[in-house]
Amino acid sequence: MDHKSIVESAEIPVVPIVLAGMMGSGKSAIGRRLAKILNRDHADLDTVIEASEGMRVHTIFKRKGEDYFRQLEKRKLLEILQSKAPIVLSLGGGALQNENIANFIADNAILCFINPSMDTIVERVLRNKKRPLLLNERGEHKPEAEIRHILNELYYSRLSCYEKAHIHFHPVENKSIHQTACDLLTKITENVR
Ligand code: S3P
Repeated sequence: MDHKSIVESAEIPVVPIVLAGMMGSGKSAIGRRLAKILNRDHADLDTVIEASEGMRVHTIFKRKGEDYFRQLEKRKLLEILQSKAPIVLSLGGGALQNENIANFIADNAILCFINPSMDTIVERVLRNKKRPLLLNERGEHKPEAEIRHILNELYYSRLSCYEKAHIHFHPVENKSIHQTACDLLTKITENVR
Protein backbone atom coordinates (compact mmCIF):
# COMPACT_ATOMS: atom_id res chain seq x y z
CA MET A 1 0.00 0.00 0.00
CA ASP A 2 1.32 3.50 -0.73
CA HIS A 3 1.28 6.08 2.02
CA LYS A 4 -1.86 7.86 0.73
CA SER A 5 -3.90 4.65 0.96
CA ILE A 6 -2.52 3.93 4.43
CA VAL A 7 -3.40 7.42 5.64
CA GLU A 8 -6.88 7.29 4.05
CA SER A 9 -7.67 3.92 5.58
CA ALA A 10 -6.05 4.77 8.90
CA GLU A 11 -8.01 5.43 12.02
CA ILE A 12 -5.31 6.83 14.24
CA PRO A 13 -6.39 8.40 17.54
CA VAL A 14 -5.70 12.13 17.68
CA VAL A 15 -3.01 11.89 20.35
CA PRO A 16 0.76 12.39 20.14
CA ILE A 17 2.83 9.68 18.50
CA VAL A 18 6.07 9.30 20.48
CA LEU A 19 9.16 7.55 19.11
CA ALA A 20 11.55 6.05 21.67
CA GLY A 21 14.63 3.85 21.29
CA MET A 22 18.37 3.91 21.47
CA MET A 23 20.57 6.66 20.07
CA GLY A 24 21.14 5.98 16.38
CA SER A 25 17.88 4.05 16.02
CA GLY A 26 16.47 6.54 13.49
CA LYS A 27 13.82 8.17 15.73
CA SER A 28 14.40 11.67 14.36
CA ALA A 29 14.46 10.85 10.65
CA ILE A 30 11.52 8.40 10.86
CA GLY A 31 9.54 10.80 13.08
CA ARG A 32 10.06 13.72 10.71
CA ARG A 33 8.88 11.65 7.74
CA LEU A 34 5.95 10.12 9.62
CA ALA A 35 4.77 13.61 10.62
CA LYS A 36 4.96 14.73 6.98
CA ILE A 37 2.93 11.73 5.80
CA LEU A 38 0.28 12.33 8.49
CA ASN A 39 0.34 16.09 8.02
CA ARG A 40 1.18 16.59 11.69
CA ASP A 41 3.85 18.74 13.35
CA HIS A 42 7.11 17.08 14.36
CA ALA A 43 9.28 17.88 17.39
CA ASP A 44 12.60 16.44 18.42
CA LEU A 45 13.08 16.55 22.20
CA ASP A 46 16.85 17.14 21.98
CA THR A 47 16.26 20.07 19.60
CA VAL A 48 13.64 21.55 21.96
CA ILE A 49 16.17 21.29 24.82
CA GLU A 50 18.96 22.80 22.73
CA ALA A 51 16.72 25.73 21.78
CA SER A 52 15.70 26.39 25.38
CA GLU A 53 19.33 26.31 26.63
CA GLY A 54 20.95 27.92 23.58
CA MET A 55 23.51 25.08 23.58
CA ARG A 56 24.05 21.73 21.87
CA VAL A 57 23.34 18.60 23.93
CA HIS A 58 27.02 17.70 24.25
CA THR A 59 27.78 21.20 25.57
CA ILE A 60 24.96 20.94 28.15
CA PHE A 61 26.46 17.63 29.32
CA LYS A 62 29.92 19.18 29.52
CA ARG A 63 29.03 22.46 31.21
CA LYS A 64 26.08 21.48 33.39
CA GLY A 65 26.30 17.70 33.72
CA GLU A 66 24.09 14.76 32.85
CA ASP A 67 21.77 15.16 35.87
CA TYR A 68 20.89 18.70 34.80
CA PHE A 69 20.20 17.47 31.26
CA ARG A 70 17.96 14.64 32.54
CA GLN A 71 15.87 17.01 34.69
CA LEU A 72 15.42 19.34 31.74
CA GLU A 73 14.63 16.44 29.42
CA LYS A 74 11.91 15.24 31.79
CA ARG A 75 10.43 18.73 32.23
CA LYS A 76 10.30 19.47 28.49
CA LEU A 77 8.84 16.05 27.71
CA LEU A 78 6.02 16.51 30.24
CA GLU A 79 5.36 20.07 29.02
CA ILE A 80 5.00 18.85 25.43
CA LEU A 81 2.69 15.97 26.36
CA GLN A 82 0.59 18.09 28.72
CA SER A 83 -0.09 20.51 25.85
CA LYS A 84 -1.95 17.57 24.27
CA ALA A 85 -0.95 18.67 20.74
CA PRO A 86 -1.16 15.58 18.48
CA ILE A 87 2.39 15.93 17.19
CA VAL A 88 4.93 13.29 16.29
CA LEU A 89 7.64 13.53 18.96
CA SER A 90 11.10 11.95 18.64
CA LEU A 91 12.71 11.42 22.06
CA GLY A 92 16.39 11.20 22.99
CA GLY A 93 17.54 7.67 23.76
CA GLY A 94 17.49 8.18 27.53
CA ALA A 95 14.23 10.12 27.84
CA LEU A 96 12.30 7.07 29.09
CA GLN A 97 14.27 7.43 32.32
CA ASN A 98 12.05 5.30 34.47
CA GLU A 99 8.91 3.22 34.32
CA ASN A 100 6.71 6.07 35.65
CA ILE A 101 7.63 8.27 32.70
CA ALA A 102 7.24 5.37 30.27
CA ASN A 103 3.80 4.59 31.75
CA PHE A 104 2.77 8.25 31.60
CA ILE A 105 3.68 8.44 27.91
CA ALA A 106 1.97 5.12 27.17
CA ASP A 107 -1.22 6.47 28.82
CA ASN A 108 -1.16 9.76 26.90
CA ALA A 109 0.28 8.92 23.50
CA ILE A 110 0.94 6.17 21.00
CA LEU A 111 4.38 5.06 22.16
CA CYS A 112 6.59 3.38 19.53
CA PHE A 113 9.87 1.58 20.31
CA ILE A 114 12.18 1.86 17.29
CA ASN A 115 14.49 -1.11 17.64
CA PRO A 116 17.04 -1.78 14.86
CA SER A 117 19.96 -4.21 15.26
CA MET A 118 22.90 -3.24 17.51
CA ASP A 119 25.21 -3.36 14.46
CA THR A 120 23.08 -0.69 12.75
CA ILE A 121 23.08 1.44 15.89
CA VAL A 122 26.88 1.22 16.29
CA GLU A 123 27.45 2.05 12.62
CA ARG A 124 25.18 5.11 12.86
CA VAL A 125 26.55 6.55 16.12
CA LEU A 126 30.08 6.42 14.69
CA ARG A 127 29.04 8.77 11.86
CA ASN A 128 29.18 11.87 14.08
CA LYS A 129 30.43 13.09 17.44
CA LYS A 130 27.27 14.52 18.95
CA ARG A 131 26.57 11.88 21.61
CA PRO A 132 28.42 12.78 24.82
CA LEU A 133 28.02 9.35 26.44
CA LEU A 134 30.18 7.87 23.66
CA LEU A 135 32.96 10.48 23.66
CA ASN A 136 36.14 10.85 25.71
CA GLU A 137 37.17 14.07 27.48
CA ARG A 138 38.79 15.37 24.25
CA GLY A 139 35.46 15.02 22.40
CA GLU A 140 36.71 12.04 20.36
CA HIS A 141 34.87 8.72 20.03
CA LYS A 142 35.78 6.13 22.62
CA PRO A 143 37.14 2.90 21.07
CA GLU A 144 34.48 1.03 19.07
CA ALA A 145 34.52 -2.01 21.40
CA GLU A 146 33.86 0.27 24.37
CA ILE A 147 31.06 2.08 22.51
CA ARG A 148 29.44 -1.27 21.73
CA HIS A 149 29.74 -2.25 25.41
CA ILE A 150 28.21 1.05 26.61
CA LEU A 151 25.35 0.79 24.13
CA ASN A 152 24.62 -2.80 25.14
CA GLU A 153 24.56 -1.87 28.84
CA LEU A 154 22.28 1.11 28.16
CA TYR A 155 20.01 -1.00 25.95
CA TYR A 156 19.44 -3.67 28.58
CA SER A 157 19.08 -1.17 31.42
CA ARG A 158 16.40 0.68 29.42
CA LEU A 159 14.64 -2.28 27.87
CA SER A 160 11.91 -2.59 30.52
CA CYS A 161 10.96 1.06 29.81
CA TYR A 162 11.14 0.71 26.02
CA GLU A 163 8.98 -2.40 26.29
CA LYS A 164 6.10 -0.32 27.69
CA ALA A 165 5.59 0.86 24.09
CA HIS A 166 2.38 -0.06 22.27
CA ILE A 167 4.33 -0.64 19.06
CA HIS A 168 7.61 -2.57 18.86
CA PHE A 169 9.10 -1.80 15.48
CA HIS A 170 12.18 -3.42 13.91
CA PRO A 171 13.08 -1.32 10.84
CA VAL A 172 14.16 -3.40 7.83
CA GLU A 173 17.80 -2.62 6.92
CA ASN A 174 18.43 -0.68 3.71
CA LYS A 175 14.86 0.53 3.23
CA SER A 176 14.40 4.24 2.56
CA ILE A 177 13.26 6.51 5.39
CA HIS A 178 9.98 7.00 3.54
CA GLN A 179 9.32 3.26 3.27
CA THR A 180 10.35 2.76 6.89
CA ALA A 181 7.93 5.48 8.04
CA CYS A 182 5.17 3.83 5.95
CA ASP A 183 5.95 0.45 7.55
CA LEU A 184 5.71 2.03 11.00
CA LEU A 185 2.43 3.71 10.08
CA THR A 186 1.01 0.39 8.87
CA LYS A 187 2.01 -1.20 12.16
CA ILE A 188 0.38 1.63 14.12
CA THR A 189 -2.88 1.35 12.17
CA GLU A 190 -2.93 -2.43 12.66
CA ASN A 191 -2.30 -2.25 16.39
CA VAL A 192 -3.88 0.92 17.72
CA ARG A 193 -7.58 1.68 17.70
C1 S3P B 1 21.11 10.08 24.83
C2 S3P B 1 20.66 10.13 23.54
C3 S3P B 1 20.77 11.35 22.71
C4 S3P B 1 20.81 12.60 23.60
C5 S3P B 1 21.87 12.48 24.63
C6 S3P B 1 21.68 11.25 25.54
C7 S3P B 1 21.00 8.80 25.58
O1 S3P B 1 19.68 11.45 21.80
O2 S3P B 1 19.55 12.81 24.21
O3 S3P B 1 23.09 12.39 23.97
O4 S3P B 1 21.14 8.82 26.82
O5 S3P B 1 20.73 7.74 24.95
P1 S3P B 1 19.53 10.50 20.48
O6 S3P B 1 18.87 9.24 20.94
O7 S3P B 1 18.67 11.29 19.58
O8 S3P B 1 20.91 10.29 19.95
